[in-house]
Amino acid sequence: MEKLEVLGANTLNGQVRISGSKNASLPILAATLLSDKKIELRNLPKVKDIETMLLLLKSLDTKIKYLKNNKSVLIENNKKNKTFVSYSLVKTMRAGILVLGPLLARYSKAKVSLPGGCAIGTRPIDIHLKALSKLGVRYKIAQGYVYANAPKGLVGAKIKFPKISVGATENLIIAASLAKGQTILSNCAIEPEIKDMVNFLNKMGCKIKWIGKRTVKILGVKNLDEVNYKIMPDRIEAGTYLIAAALTKGKIEILGINPKIIRTEIDILKKIGAKIKLKKNHITIQGNKKIKNINIKTAPYPGFPTDLQAQMMVLLCKADSRSVISEKIFENRFMHVSELNRMGAKIKIKSNKAIIEGNTKFEGAELMATDLRASVSLILAALTSKSKSRINRIYHLDRGYEQIEIKLKKIGAKIKRLS
Ligand code: UD1
Repeated sequence: MEKLEVLGANTLNGQVRISGSKNASLPILAATLLSDKKIELRNLPKVKDIETMLLLLKSLDTKIKYLKNNKSVLIENNKKNKTFVSYSLVKTMRAGILVLGPLLARYSKAKVSLPGGCAIGTRPIDIHLKALSKLGVRYKIAQGYVYANAPKGLVGAKIKFPKISVGATENLIIAASLAKGQTILSNCAIEPEIKDMVNFLNKMGCKIKWIGKRTVKILGVKNLDEVNYKIMPDRIEAGTYLIAAALTKGKIEILGINPKIIRTEIDILKKIGAKIKLKKNHITIQGNKKIKNINIKTAPYPGFPTDLQAQMMVLLCKADSRSVISEKIFENRFMHVSELNRMGAKIKIKSNKAIIEGNTKFEGAELMATDLRASVSLILAALTSKSKSRINRIYHLDRGYEQIEIKLKKIGAKIKRLS
């Protein structure tokens, strides 16, 4: 099994170009199932979750072809796709559930495996299913599968989500795009990736309009057009490299991302002491000698993202005094804490709060990655340590970070992949 070896304690300096967003690509790939016209997607990141989603689409009889030195993908659906998604394709990647909406919209039936258990919490799909039932979907759950059909096709409705969910908002917007009549969804998630998916759908001929901060109106359409679309950059990847700069007190230029979509993260890093300069699609960060403590809560966008919580925790281990992070999105997203404590951190968990003592000197260790963002937090901690770290189970990392060791090496990290 592959491992990463990291020898740290050097400052990171240089430029990092941000890849396409994984979390925008996944719903956009699912949404391609709405159409049988040609779809060209540019800037898909080369990460495992995207490969898995492409395999999933192939298993439904979608034709997929890489174009132009693998930089863009041509997607063509049949007039008739399969509507069955097996467990083997959803077990490692929860976003597989996002094909439920488009399959129901186009074929009025689908059998999709329930997503596999996930280390960061139970992650149910009840909000997706209840909302789809308001569009006319009937479903039952048996033997680990959702069996769903819409005897009269999907019909538009007014739906208020009981809780903000990224996936449920995406699934419903996609499903409603071909439903009869008008759908109004309120209490939606408004992550930039959702806005990107809506831009893609509208470019393909859907009629979707934001009519309030968390309210969207969708007029169902019958026909869609060919489309060529460039996926937005990955704001979580950008946030991770910003934190790497602050942590190693280096100077990094982040290229290819509009700073407006990570304003919350930038404000927090400034409060901690980092010096940040912004231009359109360009961020320069200079880490400060002294890292100030801060208390942070994760929250739906525009709040601080749960997907950067583990990375920020590493940075706060280096702060001049105690900080607290409250995790408000997932109930069990502190698995990185025990590994960080093994490296010398002093972090205590009290229900959904992590109390982080500052002034940590991380020591290298043999480490185990447990989920995507936890893995990257271990790399960050290892980057500050004089002794060697080996990080096992890095397949988690490969799910979401494109060429991480190559990008880190380019800015001065001593990191290599061992197989
Ligand atoms: C997406 C992101 C993930 C990010 C998360 C929160 C993708 C592919 N994944 O995941 O990286 O960490 O948003 O920003 O974009 N919930 C329910 N019932 C449901 C659905 C969700 O109870 O039917 C709960 C979840 O358990 C969680 C919360 O709602 O506690 C938010 O989850 P959600 O926003 O749906 O996350 P995902 O779409 O799975």
